Amino acid sequence: MNLDNKVSQLAKRRGFYFQSAEAYGGVAGFQTFGPQGAELKRNIEESWRDTFSRGLGHKEIEGPTVMPEPVFQASGHLDGFDDMIIECPECGTNTRADHLVEDNTGVEEAEGFSTEQIEGLIKEHGLVCPECNEHLAGVEVNDFNLMFKTSIGPGDGTNGYLRPETVQGIFTEFPRLKQYARNQLPFGVTQIGKAYRNEISPRKGLVRTREFTQAELDLFIDPEEDRPDLTDVKDIELKLYSVEEQKSDEGEYIVATVEEAIEEEIIGVNWIAYYLGIAKEWYKEIGIDMDRFRFRQHQKGERAHYASDCWDAEADISGEDEEEEWLEIAGFSYRGCYDLKKHGQHSGNEREFKIFKEYDEPVVQEETKVDIDMGILGPEYGDEAGEIAEIIEREVRQAPSVAEDGPIFVHLDGEEHAVDNSAVEVSVEEVKKTGEEITPEVVEPSFGVDRTVYTVLVHGYNEDVVDNEKRTVLHLSNEVAPVEVAVFPLMDKEGLGDRAREIASELRDSGLNVEYDDSGNIGKRYRRQDEVGTPYCVTVDYETLEDEPETVTVRERDSTEQERVKINELEEYLSSKL
Ligand code: ATP
Ligand code: GLY
Repeated sequence: MNLDNKVSQLAKRRGFYFQSAEAYGGVAGFQTFGPQGAELKRNIEESWRDTFSRGLGHKEIEGPTVMPEPVFQASGHLDGFDDMIIECPECGTNTRADHLVEDNTGVEEAEGFSTEQIEGLIKEHGLVCPECNEHLAGVEVNDFNLMFKTSIGPGDGTNGYLRPETVQGIFTEFPRLKQYARNQLPFGVTQIGKAYRNEISPRKGLVRTREFTQAELDLFIDPEEDRPDLTDVKDIELKLYSVEEQKSDEGEYIVATVEEAIEEEIIGVNWIAYYLGIAKEWYKEIGIDMDRFRFRQHQKGERAHYASDCWDAEADISGEDEEEEWLEIAGFSYRGCYDLKKHGQHSGNEREFKIFKEYDEPVVQEETKVDIDMGILGPEYGDEAGEIAEIIEREVRQAPSVAEDGPIFVHLDGEEHAVDNSAVEVSVEEVKKTGEEITPEVVEPSFGVDRTVYTVLVHGYNEDVVDNEKRTVLHLSNEVAPVEVAVFPLMDKEGLGDRAREIASELRDSGLNVEYDDSGNIGKRYRRQDEVGTPYCVTVDYETLEDEPETVTVRERDSTEQERVKINELEEYLSSKL
């Protein structure tokens, strides 16, 4: 059985995650987090908040998951958020065409290819339908938009879409968010929430679902002035797989510190390097195995429509004797001013999506002033006079000389108008400016929470032998383990159960996440807790009641070693360990 199967069986058995609505046959791409999984996911989200939101002084918001159509017209998702689909003419199965190519040929990163290139590769390699083996050469490959459409309100209503990324809810609220940031750049806004994509081929439980959670951060910067403070991250070592290395035959990783990556221009955007450093430390803290982790730069054709550079955090999710399988768990994009500009234009509120940048000192600038005599233009051009005046003003401002000799030629609706320059007076004035409106640029770390949960489980999973018995154990980090301490009575009799329940309750009061378990023999209970990754088990036995002061045994998950601890010191002991 491969590692993915082992982990998904464990996930089902112990309540981490499983197919949703199985009683109704289930629908591919939707998973439910069980009690342990929901806790693990929340712990990961909370840890992300601590690091990327509160830890960096950024502010978190929570917006709706349904947004009206114009938002996605502006963002480009309506036109460009497509994957390539191929439909089998024999059995009707829809398959993601670029993945079909990647999975069955040596070709990597086929996402950046055109539909024609993919059709060519399918033909060249004689690829077949994964469901029924029908040959797919000659079958058309099409673009398929991944957004879920809905109708808002009764009747014809308004078209809406479930957001395919949480950050559109940050961009659309920029006009208010900049006020909360007192119009000062840089400022960061975060959001953790559901995103929806109608994936063509959902797969591997949490890896590719149609509803998933993202933890995203948009940092708004003035690219001319704002630089990251590298003090805490400059020496963090990154394992980088640049575009150049991906293209070379050797394909080596570059190991460089954050500072070196910036200085040697391995990473072109210093803010991306900064966030990669923070992300690496965070992934380590939540238990991702750094030997199975890297940052990979996107190739040109792979990048999203808004990104000018992007690096992914990737984890190898294969088992020990399996072929490497790298999974994107986060993307770090430089979105520039793409989104704010688009939302400004489409909403008709361009100024709202800009920020006023105050100069250190006011500057005096010469400004061309254009006065147009509407008393001349009005009678001559009637309804068109206003538009003609606007065009003249724009053109004269750009090149004042057009108003110097003879008529000014204006083109409107395919017609040329020769406007007498006596209607236009041009003057140059000195204006004192205290600042200017700029469109901030955006750096965006975007984390997939579900894939992070999955990777934490895959990297934590292990099988070993304890007391001549095979055991399955999750080596989860204390930072995210769903249960921190399990408390057992040796048996639920002669007062042992009552004392154990009391201890569990006291530990809960101290803020620990505690599970009480008295069912089955003690060995089975240890195994159950090992399988959910509980770092410490506390057992109340006969000695407990005899000892003065009372004691319990504390067993550590990874070593399985046991220690006798006084109950009146237990809380402090566990807190220091955890
Ligand atoms: P992929 O190429 O694997 O489809 P992507 O490049 O489309 O991923 P992004 O658009 O960068 O992914 O989304 C940001 C993060 O959201 C990803 O790094 C990933 O962790 C998560 N994510 C994206 N799509 C899914 C999905 N269908 N199921 C689960 N997580 C996802
Ligand atoms: N916000 C980045 C993404 O979802 O692609």
